[in-house]
Amino acid sequence: MPTTPPPSPITLPDTFLWGTSTSAHQIEGNNTNSDWWRLERSAAGLIQEPSGDAADSYHRWPEDMDLLADLGFTDYRFSIEWARIEPAPGEYSRAALAHYRRMVEGALERGLRPMVTLHHFTLPHWFAERGGWRAPDAVDLFARYAQACAPVLTSGVRHVCTINEPNMVAVMVAAMDAVQDGEAFPHTGLPLPDEKTSHTLIAAHRAATAAVKKIDGDILTGWTVANQAYLAEPGAQETADAYRHPREDLFLEAARHDDWIGVQAYTSTRIGPEGPLPVPDGAERTLTGWEFRPEALGIALRHTAEVVGPTVQMIVTENGIATDDDSRRTAYLAGALGALAAAIDDGLNIGGYLHWSLLDNYEWGSYRPTFGLIAVDKDTFTRTPKPSAAALGAIGRTRLLPAAP
Ligand code: FCB
Repeated sequence: MPTTPPPSPITLPDTFLWGTSTSAHQIEGNNTNSDWWRLERSAAGLIQEPSGDAADSYHRWPEDMDLLADLGFTDYRFSIEWARIEPAPGEYSRAALAHYRRMVEGALERGLRPMVTLHHFTLPHWFAERGGWRAPDAVDLFARYAQACAPVLTSGVRHVCTINEPNMVAVMVAAMDAVQDGEAFPHTGLPLPDEKTSHTLIAAHRAATAAVKKIDGDILTGWTVANQAYLAEPGAQETADAYRHPREDLFLEAARHDDWIGVQAYTSTRIGPEGPLPVPDGAERTLTGWEFRPEALGIALRHTAEVVGPTVQMIVTENGIATDDDSRRTAYLAGALGALAAAIDDGLNIGGYLHWSLLDNYEWGSYRPTFGLIAVDKDTFTRTPKPSAAALGAIGRTRLLPAAP
């Protein structure tokens, strides 16, 4: 019987980003001037454990970048910390700016192209105290901070992300209001984002984009949106569309004139006629409690393309799984990369894949959900790559993405 040859892999162009993502607060340690550091210690007791030293990447970034490059990756998305750069209103730390500039140069020296995120969930404590995103001058203050990042971004940085997951930022603002008012959280799905914050974030994104373009007109700017890969059950399409719009599409629509849009997908949520449905009984769950749904990435890419249109390039800026069993990460990656390959085959405009995350890190309240390709010993900070790290990194070296199943 003649056998059909296996489908050939996709050759990724050199320009295709192949890397990992991190955020400052989750790996640096001792981000003491930030709102999160205070929240971790607040009397409300909302947070299970504090971030403390995290992975001590503020000092160990050269080792992290060495590992990343040695594994075969060619790109690194990391964030710079507003609370360190502007420790008091209008006061800029030359030392912090020089630190992040050394990171940019350190990445380039190792053959890693840096993607720099300006804001990844944490705010300077002083900014939060004035009302955070609800302060009347929030947009101007963020734009001023973006402008102050010039020494970091001055050369060698091709991609800048202004704000990570603005939709989740607006959700968190609403969630904190609910806590303060003693209201219950929804058991399934996400709270409705705070509308005013959503619109302020869109304005802040535009203002920061302009500030970055002034620093270097060749920098490609965008933001990243958390995508829940909503799937409508029969008869629930209208409910799904209405539910998704304020939580997701509003932020995707705001990216229609950007250079790129970051797609961040982990799991998928089903929507019934009454709204989001709980994870089905017996379904596999990861350490965050999310359903194991690697196909979420394909759903997210296709939905994003539908909203932003074909000219805005999509970059997968986060995708991964919290597990203490690396073989489940390997299985997850097979599904997610298969979905990526299928989307590329279908002609979607995709410019990169950045896995969440490089390291086991501080997952916004707890160290338990381990998303890292590399394990970190909490006492010694020793880094140990997991088998999935080598397999994923190898694709960066060969530039061959396995064909869609
Ligand atoms: C995203 C965040 C990132 C990380 C992953 C698991 O929402 O951007 O910091 O927590 O989820």
